[in-house]
Amino acid sequence: MVDITELRTRFPALDRKVDDRPALYLDGPAGTQVPISVIDRIAAAMVESVSNVGGPFAASRDSDRVVDEARTAGADLFDAEPGEIVFGANMTTMTFAFSRAVSSSWGPGDTVAVTGLDHDANVTPWVRAARERDAEIRFIGINEDATLDMASLDSVLDDSVRLVAVTGCSNAFGALVDIPAVVDASHSVGARVYVDAVHLTPHRRPAITTLGADAVICSAYKFHGPHVGVLRGDPDWLTEIEAVKVRPSPPEPPGKFETGTQPFPLLAGFAATIDHLASLGEGDSRRERLASAFDWISEREHRLGSMFVDSLPDNVTIIGPPTMEGRVSTFAVSVEGVGPGEAARRLGERGLFVWAGHNYAVEPMRRLGFLDEGGLVRMGITHLNTEDEIERLVDELAGLRG
Ligand SMILES: Cc1ncc(COP(=O)(O)O)c(C=O)c1O
Repeated sequence: MVDITELRTRFPALDRKVDDRPALYLDGPAGTQVPISVIDRIAAAMVESVSNVGGPFAASRDSDRVVDEARTAGADLFDAEPGEIVFGANMTTMTFAFSRAVSSSWGPGDTVAVTGLDHDANVTPWVRAARERDAEIRFIGINEDATLDMASLDSVLDDSVRLVAVTGCSNAFGALVDIPAVVDASHSVGARVYVDAVHLTPHRRPAITTLGADAVICSAYKFHGPHVGVLRGDPDWLTEIEAVKVRPSPPEPPGKFETGTQPFPLLAGFAATIDHLASLGEGDSRRERLASAFDWISEREHRLGSMFVDSLPDNVTIIGPPTMEGRVSTFAVSVEGVGPGEAARRLGERGLFVWAGHNYAVEPMRRLGFLDEGGLVRMGITHLNTEDEIERLVDELAGLRG
């Protein structure tokens, strides 16, 4: 049983005040607070793990250990093997590099499928890669409630499709995607599936044993960790792909995808993040505790999200799934008579941290008609929020009048 009051004391950032009012963090989709255990582990690694890896001396062996521990932690997160875990700067940078490597075998007659729901980091890298190889690009459409149109997926798939790039969860609208169904349909035509789990992972465990995708990628700063990206790839596929690398770096995965010197202190912080998340669950192994922690997170967020939906003031409209069915507790809303930028600014002055705009979800914002309107206001409720904070949010939204 997690004590939420105790849990919040682990996060120094939650002490922040804005003009004597406690800060109310609702900007989780763009970055989350970090517990002291993670901060301490990063600081310790700045002392112990600044030597490079692979050397015949103690300080280098410390860095080797940090990398090994980070891979084991990544394997526990994804329910995979350590050798399948690749680290990098962030999801966007890693996806540009990965798409360039994957597409080196594409040519005319091949197709890549991207979606109208994704963050642009899972669209533009694949579109550019396809263009460079004269491959075709197809878009999977969305429904009016910002969910993926599964019928459109079926119409896009044929045996020319080499890869489907799809999000696990919309970073703007909170809609979940049925990834196992996308994987089944894509694999039936021989296409690989690359899942952007950046917005999924703060809310659901990206277990490969459930998702079944060929590659799943996320970013630790979205789930209380440092700014580092992590990918889990199918080992045969990772071996097959020709990585874009320098000659002396390892020829085998995962090292062949990790260009240059890795941020060892951040990798130490990543392992500490997984320990922190596991501390919210129960079980004999870290994997079991992680699975249980994610159950607790999704149940708590469902409750907080339902509270928000049920008490929505009449000047606010949710764009996207209208209830907690098929979604996480990330809400894009419009406020009657108040533009999104103005609403976010006024909330910010009162200590509520929310984003406004398209949040890089260019495709869905354009398709739903909000791109030229300045986007929407986005509130990301996470398990760290409290019932009192949801009440405060609702009151503040109700007070936003034009
Ligand atoms: C769904 C989604 N995908 C990709 C990204 C890009 O992640 P990164 O900042 O690690 O490049 C984000 C960042 O907001 C995101 O929300």
